Amino acid sequence: MFDAISLKKSGQPQAIVVGVVKGTGLGAAARKLDADGSMAAAAKRAEATGDLGTVAAAYPGKNKPAERVLLLGLGDAKDLTIDGLRTAVAAAGRQLSAAKVTSVVFELDDAIAAAKLDDADAFTAVGESLGLLSWRCETFRGTANPSQAKPKLAIIEAKAARTKALQLGLGLAEGANFARTLSQTPPNVATPAWMFAEAKKLTKHGLKVTALKGDALKREKMEGLINVGKASENEPHLIRIEYTPAGGSAKSKAKPIVLVGKTMTYDSGGLSIKVGGGMVGMKRDKDGGCGVMGAMLAIAKTIKPKVPVVALLCSAENSISDEAYRPDDVLTFRNGVTVEVTNTDAEGRLVLADGLCYACDKEKPAAIVDVATLTGGVVVALGSTFAGLWCDDDKLRDKVQAASDASGERVWRLPLHKEYKDMMKSPIADIINSNPNRKAHPIQGAAFLSYFVDETIPWCHLDIAGTHAVEGDEGPYIKGPTGFSARLLARLAQSW
Ligand code: BES
Ligand code: MN
Ligand code: ZN
Repeated sequence: MFDAISLKKSGQPQAIVVGVVKGTGLGAAARKLDADGSMAAAAKRAEATGDLGTVAAAYPGKNKPAERVLLLGLGDAKDLTIDGLRTAVAAAGRQLSAAKVTSVVFELDDAIAAAKLDDADAFTAVGESLGLLSWRCETFRGTANPSQAKPKLAIIEAKAARTKALQLGLGLAEGANFARTLSQTPPNVATPAWMFAEAKKLTKHGLKVTALKGDALKREKMEGLINVGKASENEPHLIRIEYTPAGGSAKSKAKPIVLVGKTMTYDSGGLSIKVGGGMVGMKRDKDGGCGVMGAMLAIAKTIKPKVPVVALLCSAENSISDEAYRPDDVLTFRNGVTVEVTNTDAEGRLVLADGLCYACDKEKPAAIVDVATLTGGVVVALGSTFAGLWCDDDKLRDKVQAASDASGERVWRLPLHKEYKDMMKSPIADIINSNPNRKAHPIQGAAFLSYFVDETIPWCHLDIAGTHAVEGDEGPYIKGPTGFSARLLARLAQSW
């Protein structure tokens, strides 16, 4: 959409976007801009319904404040939320891009007052929305369909507090967009070693990046990664990214938040091979790790939270060869729990088990949040509207919920209960990795993971199989990856 978005303090904009809540006509701030009445006329046209995301254009003549003014419908004031604003701004952004506008002012005073929104939150949402809208991944275009030039956009804003808020929004979007580019990269390029190489690029933002592979995985008893990754020539990696806050404060010496990401660079299902259309798109089975990596970029570059944050990416390719792990294998994990493999396509929980054990043992976490495209079942349950959330620690859950509210990355709680843990019992080992009875399938996944988390450590599991990508243009997204969890996790670190 836009090649780059910059912020400017002053200048004559080519366009002004005026937020208009439904049923009130133009507010005071809008009327002040309307020297020749063209905006009032546009507001009376049939398309100016005021519904969320509708746009009616005015082209002022005399004393024009800009060549064009977009009246952006924001719906009823009582229903307008920051998330709604994000969606509406995206609609305006699409029109700005189509009209090749290169400078814009957002006039939201009337809407912010009518809907009683926080001014900074509103401008953060503008930054996030335009930032997310700008994402494209053109790396894989060739000579037959070369990429098109895109305009650069300057947002003109005089108030320092709003500029700061816009920058925060753009920084969060940058994290999500990084996650999306990783997600989009095809599996013949994006191997676990490639993910490690991409992670190492984050060292320029002050992050420390290391990885375990080969013998080091064996030494650390990373049984899930070793076995799930065995059939692929692309070696499994446990990638570790560390953010250390500026020293001095007590918080900087606090225990870290640990983010664990499922990072399957491809999920063929393994010997329990995916059939029909089930395999296509499984390059995105790394999106938990991509979201975590995107969060680390936003954390290092923009948020700079007061507490340490550690990311662990459990990265492997679930492939097929004579060396593949099999249904019936029994694996002994680092914490002593034995797992009978009943289905090699329930591989995510096996690699995450390693990350969770490692986090509990080695990182002294204040809390653990894992993010995974874990089950098709969560897509059946919640669609693409909410990610599944499991967290029985009230304090952590409240924090994750607040981060979800701030980012608009929606989560919905599902239960953990002993009965679900019992569904995972094995007749020959401790537990099975998948119960052939598919009832409560996403919960089975969470129940399985709970066997690898120390009960004294607050833990949250997010199943993002429904939310990591969209099927068409939606709000600030285009068809493809959403970077889900990058913004939520960055907000979580900010709130700590
Ligand atoms: N990566 C998949 C889950 C998935 C499905 C992600 C759809 C994104 C979109 C996971 O590894 C998987 O294969 N889950 C299976 C497990 C089952 C075969 C035991 C599932 O949920 O169907
Ligand atoms: Mn699978
Ligand atoms: Zn998978």
